[in-house]
Amino acid sequence: MYLTPDEEAMLRGERGAGVGKAMEILAAIGDIYGAQRLIPIASSQVSGASYKTIGDAGLEFVRDFSSKCKVAVRTTLNPLGMDCETWKEIGVPEKFAKKQLEIVDAYRTMGIEMTATCTPYLIGKSPRMGEHIAWGESSAIAYSNSVIGARTNREGGPSALAAAIVGKTPEYGLHLDENRRAGVIIEVDVRLSGLDYATLGCFVGKAVGKRVPYFKGISGNADELKSLGAAMAASGSVALYHVEGVTPEYRNALDDKLEKMHVGREELDRTREKLNAHKETPELVAIGCPHCSACELHAIAEKLKRLGKGRKRNKNIDLWVCAARQVATSAKDDVEVIKNYGNVVCDTCMVVAPIEAKYKSTGTNSAKAATYLPSPGFCSQKVAYNDTNNLLEMLFV
Ligand code: F3S
Repeated sequence: MYLTPDEEAMLRGERGAGVGKAMEILAAIGDIYGAQRLIPIASSQVSGASYKTIGDAGLEFVRDFSSKCKVAVRTTLNPLGMDCETWKEIGVPEKFAKKQLEIVDAYRTMGIEMTATCTPYLIGKSPRMGEHIAWGESSAIAYSNSVIGARTNREGGPSALAAAIVGKTPEYGLHLDENRRAGVIIEVDVRLSGLDYATLGCFVGKAVGKRVPYFKGISGNADELKSLGAAMAASGSVALYHVEGVTPEYRNALDDKLEKMHVGREELDRTREKLNAHKETPELVAIGCPHCSACELHAIAEKLKRLGKGRKRNKNIDLWVCAARQVATSAKDDVEVIKNYGNVVCDTCMVVAPIEAKYKSTGTNSAKAATYLPSPGFCSQKVAYNDTNNLLEMLFV
């Protein structure tokens, strides 16, 4: 990869050891993927913020950078391993909390915004159409590429951090027009509602491999597309998709002679059944993967009010509704309602918090969460996968 004289100087460590190390990471990635050059980025979203996912090695890595340099562009942070305000109430062990706060400190020292959410685009940190960015967090990548039309590869924690420090990223993959075209057409033969978007995403993510899917026959609002993309990114490696008539780049995405795949009710039912492995009542109902929008918080609050009328809350099941703190703050009234029935959990989520310390089974409406929650030694949960109504219904006797 070609480096400008200025970038060469960074690589030699002339702007400090931290910048030098970040440049080394970017140069290595650029060489591996055949990038011609580095291009400036507008923002970075750094994943790898939970102590549960990065451990002591990750903490050391971040601490080392934080002692040497700062970020050069606006940089937001993925969810942490705990709600910084209510971690005790939700059962996070003290030792874990201490380590988590050290990670927060290190990122903060580097100038990273403590957004602690996988939906930065819901809190005014959205990129613009066509902007080059370097985002980690697979669901946010799928959303920003597909629904917003920004351009990012699937960055890992270290590469997103390196790009944030240098303010640039290697130009390859989804930064280039030719790689943003569809690779397979998905004809959806059923009318979708509720949980179907996440279930469809789970099925398609597995089926398409590295190809960019182009959906026909669906529409979907922002929240439904958020679930669809998160599920495809989790069950496969989809970082970009197009929806005919909906997403911003669909008009230029199609080539002749693309393979067509049909998805109908049978495929959706089979996928849903597989995800819904735990048929009994779970100990925890966890909604908000990706983090809830204000609209979703409102719908949950309304459902709880309706379901809770004249009925008793089943105290054997906890409720977590996960959202960015800023979204929760903007939806105060709905949050107050939800808190009558459970927890509104900010800064973290059911996957990257140490829920296994307290729960053995979780019910969720997220295909992404349902994919990761069963992982042994990570969350180790038995998972009930169901729609929001049915999950909230379980909370009452
Ligand atoms: Fe976000 Fe956690 Fe799901 S980071 S996408 S809520 S696994």
